[in-house]
Amino acid sequence: MSNLPALETKIPALLEALEGLSIEDSLRLLAKEFEGSIAFSSSLGIEDQLITHYIFSNDIPVRVFTLDTGRLFNETYNLLNRTNSRYDKRIQVYFPKNEAVEKLLTEKGPLSFYQSLEDRKECCFIRKVEPLKRALKGVQLWVTGIRADQSDARQSLQLLEWDEGNQLIKYNPLLHWTLDEVRAAIKKDNVPYNPLHDKGFISIGCAPCTRAVREGDDFRAGRWWWEDTSKKECGLHAS
Ligand code: ADX
Ligand code: SF4
Repeated sequence: MSNLPALETKIPALLEALEGLSIEDSLRLLAKEFEGSIAFSSSLGIEDQLITHYIFSNDIPVRVFTLDTGRLFNETYNLLNRTNSRYDKRIQVYFPKNEAVEKLLTEKGPLSFYQSLEDRKECCFIRKVEPLKRALKGVQLWVTGIRADQSDARQSLQLLEWDEGNQLIKYNPLLHWTLDEVRAAIKKDNVPYNPLHDKGFISIGCAPCTRAVREGDDFRAGRWWWEDTSKKECGLHAS
């Protein structure tokens, strides 16, 4: 534990080193600096597909993992297969603990998340947050696909920031990109993406908790649509 504060103090120098670098070169530099302790979490959403593309097509030694909640869309599972084939690589899959899911389903049924905020958070904890903790074990540099304009809470995030809860440095390479810029880069390199994005799904999570939105609606309007906007975080990025 004693070396953890030292990790946080690396941030200013790293920010300086990354200045002016492309995402690929930034990832290369960070992969060297954090050899074996750098990982990227992919939800297989459009932003994440672009980062996966940068990592896999350049053979950058960053572990790519996804949290399969067991409730994803078929289109998302399909995309996982297509992505592995396209790059001839493997996205590492984490799955929730079977005992916890069995208990939840037995005691509360398969749709408990619609009942209350607490029930929804309980499901997200079992299916996402706990597996994420396992996935981040030993990780010092966590790469995410977060963009600032995805939600109010994300506007204040930094390119590199200290994650107190997980005791690691978080790197958000697409933080200041717009969705249109992401779309253009995906198109340019013919990166595989979820066809649901073309059907009104901007932010894609679990099937029972995601729906399409109308043009001009808030980015996350289709996620947990029955809840207040202020509550729409699943706990993966709780500060
Ligand atoms: S969430 O908090 O609402 O679920 P969102 O879908 O916006 O997150 O994704 C933000 C970032 O969190 C993604 O770019 C990715 O790094 C991470 N993430 C979200 N869901 C998953 C998942 N199922 N597996 C791996 N990473 C995920
Ligand atoms: Fe459960 Fe919905 Fe959270 Fe997925 S998004 S883990 S189904 S509550």
